[in-house]
Amino acid sequence: SGAARPRLTFLGTGYLGATYAVCFAELGYEVLGYDVDAPKIAKLTGGEVPFHEPGLDEMLRKNLAAGRLKFTTSIEEAAAFGDIHFICVGTPQRADSMAADLSHVEDVVVRLAPHLHRKALIAGKSTVPVGTAEWVEQLVRRHAPAGSHVEVAWSPEFLQEGHAVEDVLRPNRVIFGVRSEWANDMLFAAHKGVFDLATTEDREVPVVITNFATAELVKVAANAFLATKISFINAMAEICEPAGADVTQLARAIGYDARIGNRFLRAGVGFGGGCLPKDIRAFQARAQELGVGEALRFLHEVDLINQRRRQWVVQLAAELLGRPFGPAGPDLSGVKVAVLGATFKPNSDDVRDSPALSVVRKLSRSGAEVSVYDPEGMENARREVPDATYARSVVEAVTGADLVCVLTEWEEFRTADPVVLADLVAGKVVIDGRNCLDPVLWRRAGWEYRGMGR
Ligand code: UGA
Repeated sequence: SGAARPRLTFLGTGYLGATYAVCFAELGYEVLGYDVDAPKIAKLTGGEVPFHEPGLDEMLRKNLAAGRLKFTTSIEEAAAFGDIHFICVGTPQRADSMAADLSHVEDVVVRLAPHLHRKALIAGKSTVPVGTAEWVEQLVRRHAPAGSHVEVAWSPEFLQEGHAVEDVLRPNRVIFGVRSEWANDMLFAAHKGVFDLATTEDREVPVVITNFATAELVKVAANAFLATKISFINAMAEICEPAGADVTQLARAIGYDARIGNRFLRAGVGFGGGCLPKDIRAFQARAQELGVGEALRFLHEVDLINQRRRQWVVQLAAELLGRPFGPAGPDLSGVKVAVLGATFKPNSDDVRDSPALSVVRKLSRSGAEVSVYDPEGMENARREVPDATYARSVVEAVTGADLVCVLTEWEEFRTADPVVLADLVAGKVVIDGRNCLDPVLWRRAGWEYRGMGR
């Protein structure tokens, strides 16, 4: 084995690792997914994806059946199997600071390295602070058996939840952070399936070959840019409100300039999820460590704008319902609010740092009785905010409500009939936190409609 058709392990079978393992098996590689979480490995082995990702279940079962894809909780097995080990573990925000928690990266490397008796490449995919690859190299040097040949590389990924299969099979670019020809050759071999697929579809996948630091930074810089784009348009939404402008038309108009582009300019309750919020914080923390904190001070403002969006919904609720503002903020006691949406975006069951759930918490804290419905995120939402009331349908959630808040733009909500819903509520007031409803239709059905910055 080796460069011709490398065998791949994906260490950590969360969102990133599981999706990559399945998709690379689909591309024809022999793949082993490893995780310390035995129930998760049991699920995957049984053909069940532990999270919601369109198209992934089917592909998992197909590749398990084909024998190209296996899962294990044994690090020895992973070490013996792989030519390339992709690190896919989580790097959440630390509890005590804005920095990234690298303990899972350290764990998996320290577990794996002593068993690496054959030539192997450890390639990081997790989002990490710049400097991590070099640190992993030192860990490997300290923990690998004497005389073994183990190298390190960094190859960040850019998949979006809800779109992950497509993003892995058809990436818009791949980044190889390498220190040797051999590591470079190995990464090319590991991505041959991706390049071949592109060729058959008459596409090209750009490759950026660079050093460790640049590869690590590409990922956080990209996410920082995306977060900034969203907060920029949300800042414009704040201006549009008192000025009487419409941020959706503004975004469309500036987006026609190709230098600006029309994507990621949707104003609303802001960004959430397991990536953008923690990545911009970890990036600031790292810049400070590097002595260049000023360079990223604007990301603090990006974060603040984003946080303000969540509070704004509560303020707007009080304003629309004519409720008083107490010293502790708006008083919504006795008000019934239906919240449609719990996940941080549609087509996902992920509620990590979800703006919708954050608004649910704030509404409850202001005294409102909140009834939440989400097509896929109920189980995770219940775990996260156990004291909210959860409805089984849109109809159940809105029945008797004084206010309806749409906080995740699920298709089911966008296409809901405002005429039907009008008959169920106590008050026909709707806050469209994602600008995903048609104001004309809702107003025609008798609703008082408020969007975000329009
Ligand atoms: C994000 C990046 O888009 C991926 O490229 C990256 O690989 C990934 O993080 C990661 O670091 O792993 P993801 O977290 O899946 O992907 O979600 P996005 O589609 O980026 O959405 C993030 C948040 O921004 C959502 O809450 C979404 O509702 C919000 N958003 C997005 C807006 O409020 N407005 C927009 O115009 C776009």
